[in-house]
Amino acid sequence: MRIDPTLAPTPESWLAANAPDEPVFFFHPARLMQVARDFLAGFPGLVTYAVKANPAPEMIRTLHAAGISAFDVASPAEMELVRAHAPGAALHYHNPVRSAEEVAAGLRAGCVSWSVDRPAELAKLAGLPRGTEIAVRLKLPVPGAAYDFGAKFGATPEQAAALLRQVVAMGFTPSLTFHPGTQCTRPEPWARYIVEAAAVARSAGVTLHRLNVGGGFPAHRDAARPDLQGIFDTIREATQGAFDEAPLLVCEPGRALAAEALTLATRVKGVHDEAVFLNDGVYGGLAEWRDIAPMDRVRAVGRQGGALTGETLRRVVFGPTCDSIDRLPETLPLPSDLQEGDFLLFAGMGAYSRALVTGFNGYGVRKVVEIESQD
Ligand SMILES: Cc1ncc(COP(=O)(O)O)c(C=O)c1O
Repeated sequence: MRIDPTLAPTPESWLAANAPDEPVFFFHPARLMQVARDFLAGFPGLVTYAVKANPAPEMIRTLHAAGISAFDVASPAEMELVRAHAPGAALHYHNPVRSAEEVAAGLRAGCVSWSVDRPAELAKLAGLPRGTEIAVRLKLPVPGAAYDFGAKFGATPEQAAALLRQVVAMGFTPSLTFHPGTQCTRPEPWARYIVEAAAVARSAGVTLHRLNVGGGFPAHRDAARPDLQGIFDTIREATQGAFDEAPLLVCEPGRALAAEALTLATRVKGVHDEAVFLNDGVYGGLAEWRDIAPMDRVRAVGRQGGALTGETLRRVVFGPTCDSIDRLPETLPLPSDLQEGDFLLFAGMGAYSRALVTGFNGYGVRKVVEIESQD
């Protein structure tokens, strides 16, 4: 996607001036910088960015410029992207199942940290230089996330202890990693995981180099702004309390770092009875809405750029394709005066949106416009 160099003070003013018939992402670099600085100032350890949440080059460049010096990559393509746009940054290869070719690509790219969750995958890493950090990925049945991340990856505490011993026996630097599940709004899952991570290290008889507490940090999706600092404080206190010799901490947020960077603007193609038809939907920038609870940060804007203030009606929202599953899973409260040609703006849409856009039926958000101010 190409970034439109036209700078406008707000999405509303740009929409009023340009009346785009295609959906548009507005990129807010100043907000992205601010979120990165909040993480760097508040998190008690190394902050890395999970590239998968939004791999756009300008995301990587802006985060690197803000001081993010390490990136969590899941594939050779993500390694190349980081090498191209954040030269000198450290690569953490935290996709625990890899083909032999992917292991070779990770070696060539100089990945400094690798996660594993089963012996057969650790065996594939035997050719890495001695001393390389291998982080064993732990999983626990901990509730609190928008969906369960333990269903695919992770070793039980017993398996993790055995893997840690094997990591040491192979001459690698032992660490532990976990992911409490995405959009965790409370600190408790981290506290549980940290206590268990310390128990795993103790039972393995291994001193951890680092503990990676994953992503999972919440984005601002509804009325209450999430308390990130409260989560950071819990992580610091839990680590100090659980370990005799506290490991260095690492985190790898995707969603919470990326979310504020984009606003998605969709245009109303038609309002018919109880339904609103938009020019983007679940095959485009709203792909994740099928899997996660809807968010409240939606505003209706008239074609002149003003807020619509009619009484609120709940309406079914369809996307533009001919597929009947192209609809938001829940009705949205929308002003009764919403008409064809007006816009719906979705704030906080920087994560798992742009990365998931398809071209189904010839639709999909392609246009990105940079917004210069903090509006
Ligand atoms: C290993 C790993 N780290 C970090 C993340 C980022 O998670 P989140 O976007 O919830 O912060 C993911 C997401 O899939 C992941 O798989």
